[in-house]
Amino acid sequence: MASLLCITIFSLTLAGSAFSQSMSYPTLPTVMVLADLGTNVNLPCRLPAKDALAFGNIGIRIKWTKVAEDEALNEDVLLSMGLHKKTFGSFADRVFLTDEVEDATITITDVSTDDSGKYRCEIINGMVDFMEEITLDVQGGLTDGVVFPYSPSQGRYNLNFDNATQACLEQNASVATLDQLHQAWKGGLDWCNAGWLSDGTVHYPVTRARGPCGGNKGPGLISYGSRDKQKGRFDVFCFASAFKGHFYWLVQPDRLTFDEAVQGCLDDGAEIARVGHMYSAWKLEGFDRCDAGWLADGSVRYPISRPRNNCSPTEAAVRFVGFPDKMQKSYGVYCYKDE
Ligand SMILES: *[C@@H]1O[C@H](CO)[C@@H](O)[C@H](O)[C@H]1NC(C)=O
Ligand SMILES: *[C@@H]1O[C@H](CO)[C@@H](O)[C@H](O)[C@H]1NC(C)=O
Repeated sequence: MASLLCITIFSLTLAGSAFSQSMSYPTLPTVMVLADLGTNVNLPCRLPAKDALAFGNIGIRIKWTKVAEDEALNEDVLLSMGLHKKTFGSFADRVFLTDEVEDATITITDVSTDDSGKYRCEIINGMVDFMEEITLDVQGGLTDGVVFPYSPSQGRYNLNFDNATQACLEQNASVATLDQLHQAWKGGLDWCNAGWLSDGTVHYPVTRARGPCGGNKGPGLISYGSRDKQKGRFDVFCFASAFKGHFYWLVQPDRLTFDEAVQGCLDDGAEIARVGHMYSAWKLEGFDRCDAGWLADGSVRYPISRPRNNCSPTEAAVRFVGFPDKMQKSYGVYCYKDE
């Protein structure tokens, strides 16, 4: 469901509309709507109460436009005249009037960050002409995902920026943005190794300042600033979003080598899970299993949501066992099946 929040701010003027020279619009508050990536969002547009009765008129025309900096580049979103409705461009079949009897509010489904920006709603029926502007801010998957630190089998501080991008991709994730790391820090992420972010800066999040971990800087995101993308060698913070598939522990009797683990998932119509799948299942679905299992990068981990003795006693976490010898027959396997 759309989680959204409306903030009303007062805009000084709506002058300069290309819509018509002869009409003068009253000064109206503009509305800011915040939405999470991938949700459905309503952009409200209602006539002021005294004019609302005019809304039912047959001749009424509703026009929604996405307003560009340069008005010549405005995009049509939706046009409605009586029974005729049309949606345009990237909005085709994704936008509809929420309740066309009541008002001109629209619903945009499955919003992406590209949908962020200013929208203009115009209601025209010859008697009442009305215009309102709404700003939509789609937040880039801040809540619907998880940030996790990653270092490769070669050990910590081995990734330049390209390596880091590749490493996250291989874990079914992307390099986290500063915003995403900030959100994760607010959610309690504490990690003492510095990692790349998508803007080419290097940071690490500290919630419990101690010794070399932000000891003299206090809790916060500790920044190393922008680093040389070729020569800089750090870990990386990856961001995994929710997935539609199925993450699970493969139930079978034996301890497996890495190759047997890969084959075990294939035989089950799945693939060996990636690190991003495990973090996402742990964080977003509360996945909990106290069995160490192979993952696609050759690491062995297990996800604990309910801390208990012998299984991450003090904190909910994805526990990292290591990158063992791939011939070692000591572990099970986590698989992932697309749906
Ligand atoms: C980083 O990338 C270089 C060049 O693509 C590659 O040779 C190297 O093995 C990579 N290092 C890691 C740790 O992935
Ligand atoms: C993760 O995998 C799913 C399906 O396998 C894919 O649709 C999605 O784009 C991947 N995400 C990333 C960030 O690679």
